[in-house]
Amino acid sequence: MKDFSGRTAFVTGGANGVGIGLVRALLAQGCNVAIADIRSAHIDAALTALDNPRAMGVPVDVSSRAELARAAQAVEEKFGVVTLLFNNAGVNLFQSIEESSYDDWDWIMGVNLHGPINGVMTFVPRMIRAGKGGYVVNTASMAGFLGAAACGIYNTTKFAVRGMSESLRASLAPHGIGVSLLCPGLVKSYIYASEEIRPQALKAGAKPVNTEFVKRLAEIHQFGMEPDVIATRVLEAMREDRFHVFSHPEFKDELSEVFGEILADFRDYPPDPGHAQRIEFEKTRRETYRKQRRGLKQS
Ligand SMILES: NC(=O)c1ccc[n+]([C@@H]2O[C@H](COP(=O)([O-])OP(=O)(O)OC[C@H]3O[C@@H](n4cnc5c(N)ncnc54)[C@H](O)[C@@H]3O)[C@@H](O)[C@H]2O)c1
Repeated sequence: MKDFSGRTAFVTGGANGVGIGLVRALLAQGCNVAIADIRSAHIDAALTALDNPRAMGVPVDVSSRAELARAAQAVEEKFGVVTLLFNNAGVNLFQSIEESSYDDWDWIMGVNLHGPINGVMTFVPRMIRAGKGGYVVNTASMAGFLGAAACGIYNTTKFAVRGMSESLRASLAPHGIGVSLLCPGLVKSYIYASEEIRPQALKAGAKPVNTEFVKRLAEIHQFGMEPDVIATRVLEAMREDRFHVFSHPEFKDELSEVFGEILADFRDYPPDPGHAQRIEFEKTRRETYRKQRRGLKQS
């Protein structure tokens, strides 16, 4: 992506944290930007602070297909077709899977996984029809690589967003639409306050909020990375058409260690019947996958 200026961007979770950083960076590049967020008051505050006619607010719950379809319509009417999509809205619950309820699953999966799915299903066909190329950035997390006991549902969603993004990168390349995956570590953001926007219908299965813990989380997030720094790194990756956006370089060693452990789980089993045919069959897939990883078009 080289030509940002004049394009229309849609940033979910755009009123706070990573999202508002992206909004500011995109406006600085001359884009029209829709700030899509569930917190209307925060959208209004962002619009006031930005004071920029190229920014508009769109109150939306990304877990709702109908709301996203309406949001897409509203943005297109004002700014034209969206060709830069940032599926960034996310929420977190800091608890293990066995401590969680179905309501917890439905809420976190709804925002963190169905949000990006709905974003892609709503905007990508329009992008393809417009024929102007474009870009999709999905916000995962280092939690999309590093599974931990303390945030099982969150891990599940972020690993899934990673898989979806890798596949999408391959399938959208022939349309001139790039895909990147943003994997931040700690961000100076508001995510610790997620509980306050949990939908009423999914509150029955919620554990009581531990206010002391939330206070501690707020303190920790204060030394998270500034959203503006992350946004600069995202736009740089888009310019380079680079898939992974590892905004926090301090994770490199740990990831290397984890990948080493994954490889160490392989065993040299003796060939079983069918092994040779399987290897032959896999040749084409392997080659296609290699091309995909190198960013080459499939055709
Ligand atoms: N905070 C971190 O340390 C961290 C680390 C890695 C990844 N992330 C990811 O970064 C992304 C942005 O989060 P953040 O840290 O900036 O948090 P944040 O809470 O500051 O911002 C997220 C925004 O998403 C909005 N949002 C939540 N649910 C929504 C919904 N259903 N529909 C529309 N908008 C909704 C919130 O109102 C908020 O404005 C998330 O996907 C998060 O998982 C955050």
